[in-house]
Amino acid sequence: MIDIGQAGTYTLGDRSVQRLGYGAMQLAGPGVFGPPKDRNAAIAVLREAVDSGVNHIDTSDFYGPHVTNQILREALHPYRDGLTIVTKIGARRGADGSWNPAFTREELTQAVHDNLRNLGLDVLDVVNLRSMFSIHGPAEGSLEEPLSVLAGLQQQGLVRHIGLSNATPTQIEQGRSICRIVCVQNQYNLAHRADDGLVADLARDGTAYVPFFPLGGFSPLQSAGLSAVAEELGSTPMQVALAWLLQRSPNILLIPGTSSVVHLRENLAAAQLVLTPSTVARLDQIAGETPPA
Ligand SMILES: NC(=O)c1ccc[n+]([C@@H]2O[C@H](COP(=O)([O-])OP(=O)(O)OC[C@H]3O[C@@H](n4cnc5c(N)ncnc54)[C@H](OP(=O)(O)O)[C@@H]3O)[C@@H](O)[C@H]2O)c1
Repeated sequence: MIDIGQAGTYTLGDRSVQRLGYGAMQLAGPGVFGPPKDRNAAIAVLREAVDSGVNHIDTSDFYGPHVTNQILREALHPYRDGLTIVTKIGARRGADGSWNPAFTREELTQAVHDNLRNLGLDVLDVVNLRSMFSIHGPAEGSLEEPLSVLAGLQQQGLVRHIGLSNATPTQIEQGRSICRIVCVQNQYNLAHRADDGLVADLARDGTAYVPFFPLGGFSPLQSAGLSAVAEELGSTPMQVALAWLLQRSPNILLIPGTSSVVHLRENLAAAQLVLTPSTVARLDQIAGETPPA
């Protein structure tokens, strides 16, 4: 059995979670638009994750929509003590699978209730407000209104902790004047390092940084430098990419996504991979590489 404990733990809200977690988005099926081809395979991935010690799962009710949370509930409810399920709100899916902003009071309130119902919970552990000024990356714009709505739902006892996703440093500062922000979930990996400074700032405050697309997302990372390091270490490129994130900063929590038990095992084994400073220096050069055509 893989010992994910070697990667250590970090504080998320009022809990300590394993730094190696799991992102459930891929379980919804192609295009994150359900249903998946093999629901039983999705259930098997989730059960294997928690049996391996994963106690931090990232999800959303707009994955599917609804499908990922329903699978999570079927696979894992009643939830083990200490399992932290983090969800996100702020988007809704069109009938064509499109991703659209859902920032009105009614939409945000509905989203919290949809998550509660589909996950089978009375209170959500952590809810990230997903900024939608641009779907492709953080873009400036005030989050005051939607975050105040979410803070109101927290005061009603429906939400334990609040985080931000796809957010700029300015929005995080603004958010902190409204409620406690326990985590930030932005795109970040070996090749996409726009948040280098933000990761360090959040580490100084003790705030968790949860990179989405840690493996590159819909187009998994490809780099000659990464493959060379993996071969030398007898590891896979995905394991090296995850080990690099773990060593990048102690406040980074990993949520690699997969719909495959084989990939899950491979990803969790990255907890045991230690990179030397010279290997990290070589991997640090990848962000400047031209991606393969
Ligand atoms: N806040 C946001 O806006 C936002 C956006 C995107 C994602 N997220 C969250 O972040 C989590 C992680 O992101 P992600 O799942 O999109 O991207 P990811 O973890 O970077 O990569 C997932 C992709 O890599 C493949 N993969 C996983 N492990 C692999 C392995 N060992 N070898 C080869 N391929 C592998 C997966 O395919 P297989 O299924 O075939 O393994 C899938 O195509 C999501 O689950 C979601 O919870 C948040």
